[in-house]
Amino acid sequence: MKAIVCLHIAASAAAAFSLQGPAEYVQAWLGLYPLHEHLSSNLSSPRPSLIQTAPQCSPGYVFLEPRGWAVRRPGPVVLDGNGELVWTEHKFGEVMDFRPQLYKGETFLTFWRGTDDGTHGRGSYYMLDSAYEVDKIIRPAGGLDGDLHEFSITDNGTALMTIYEAVPADLSGVGGPVEGWVHDGILQEVDIETGKLVFEWRATSFYKAEHSLWGTGGKGLSKEDAWDYFHINSIDKDPEGNYYVSSRYTFTVTCISPGGEVLWQLGGVNSDFTDLSGGAASNFSWNHHVRWHEGNVLTIFDNGAHGYKTGERTAEISRGLLVQLDLTRMTVELITQFIRPQPVLSASQGSVQILDNGNVFVGWGYTPAYTEFTNNGTAICDVEFGAARWFQTGAVKSYRGFKGDWVGRPKSKPDIAGRRKQVYVSWNGATEVRHWRLQSAVAWDADENNFADQETIERTTFETMFNVAGIEGRYVRALALDASGEVLGISHVFDTKGRRIVSVVSFPSLAP
Ligand SMILES: *[C@@H]1O[C@H](CO)[C@@H](O)[C@H](O)[C@H]1NC(C)=O
Ligand SMILES: *[C@@H]1O[C@H](CO)[C@@H](O)[C@H](O)[C@H]1NC(C)=O
Ligand SMILES: *[C@@H]1O[C@H](CO)[C@@H](O)[C@H](O)[C@H]1NC(C)=O
Ligand SMILES: *[C@@H]1O[C@H](CO)[C@@H](O)[C@H](O)[C@H]1NC(C)=O
Repeated sequence: MKAIVCLHIAASAAAAFSLQGPAEYVQAWLGLYPLHEHLSSNLSSPRPSLIQTAPQCSPGYVFLEPRGWAVRRPGPVVLDGNGELVWTEHKFGEVMDFRPQLYKGETFLTFWRGTDDGTHGRGSYYMLDSAYEVDKIIRPAGGLDGDLHEFSITDNGTALMTIYEAVPADLSGVGGPVEGWVHDGILQEVDIETGKLVFEWRATSFYKAEHSLWGTGGKGLSKEDAWDYFHINSIDKDPEGNYYVSSRYTFTVTCISPGGEVLWQLGGVNSDFTDLSGGAASNFSWNHHVRWHEGNVLTIFDNGAHGYKTGERTAEISRGLLVQLDLTRMTVELITQFIRPQPVLSASQGSVQILDNGNVFVGWGYTPAYTEFTNNGTAICDVEFGAARWFQTGAVKSYRGFKGDWVGRPKSKPDIAGRRKQVYVSWNGATEVRHWRLQSAVAWDADENNFADQETIERTTFETMFNVAGIEGRYVRALALDASGEVLGISHVFDTKGRRIVSVVSFPSLAP
């Protein structure tokens, strides 16, 4: 039954947008979520379709958290600029908001993990160190559960996080009971080291039920069935200490002073700004991921829809927005909008990131695609990681998508495996490996000096293959070398005749 409904939606999606890219990818002949499988590793990773690439796309890795009904093993994924796997992990299951973040001078991989009910979550925030080991698990203050939408680390060693909590509310203004229930949208800033609450703001302290542009749908009668009237989904903070909150169901960005006073709201029914762009800078709807930038510039992901049926879409397409605020005149002006070359309408999720070189990276959320633009809105790199024919079905999605730098040094050993006359090596998460060197030995008796160098191959993909047909010696192992030729790790010894791993070689004691 579900499949039939989805096919129906997919058919209408195809009618709305032209589909480009290779037919076998777009039409799901490779699957709804095409995967790369590897011989040396049981990890699977997305096998993206690179629709458009360009040398001026910034260097750096792409950070995604694919999930959806066609994603059998969800989890965090790091890809390189060619869409090749760098690191993934299946043990965490579904995660959200996966990205590198700086904390006290060190870069961590952070994400939310927990259970979600489809619109918000109850869980905690994880910080992994450069060896991919869990360094910290953080929760909101006051015994509340961390919501999936935001975990943002500030320069002051604090974290901004979203929380949903059911609270009593008067819903008589929207046709509900006087003693009704809503999900409050809570912003907390918590000191990471001490866990102490630094700041808290609640949407119900300012926004009333009447401000919501999302109908109650009969919800709000009990605590268990609280109405999600506000839907907080991002928090940012500027150097002066003001907070910026995005609300999907009021179509607003709210600026809150360090003292907790609402300074202004942009968008929605009571916008405080005159739109110098005839509406284009402030008529965003069902929005996500608002970020403040130097000079009172904001980036906003404008979904333009919360569903695909008539009446559920406000706009025809989703777009990234870069807008200029003038807080003296209280005006807003569109600087640039970022629209995918093959436009998409994403009914939920999404992100907009300004990269170090000024390019803009957009993750399309509910639509499994990401695009890098120059700052004037020209798309230069464009990638899909799910079959476009099924874009509007939730088969594959990634809450947000980011691009950035990362250095990973796993403590595990490189993986090695063989098939016929080939030996395959890989090392999940080892970003510094530039070359692999194969060594072989006629006999294996735990004496590393028996091993003689064979071929050295540049590492260009997650897995590297050696042909061992002409090699003397049945036992092989691989050395991972960094840019200066230093040995970063040595694999187990692989018996090419018995086709199995025969040793656990310790490192660095047995280094050549
Ligand atoms: C992959 O999983 C299979 C079955 O669990 C196991 O036998 C095999 O050793 C694993 N391979 C690697 C490279 O981890
Ligand atoms: C960091 O702390 C200083 C001093 O309390 C404050 O002025 C500043 O606004 C804070 N910045 C952020 C991003 O929290
Ligand atoms: C937003 O405003 C712009 C400029 O007036 C207009 O072209 C666009 O259609 C508007 N979008 C929506 C969803 O109202
Ligand atoms: C936008 O930037 C690109 C790359 O910098 C340039 O080639 C293009 O001409 C620019 N387009 C416009 C409309 O300014």
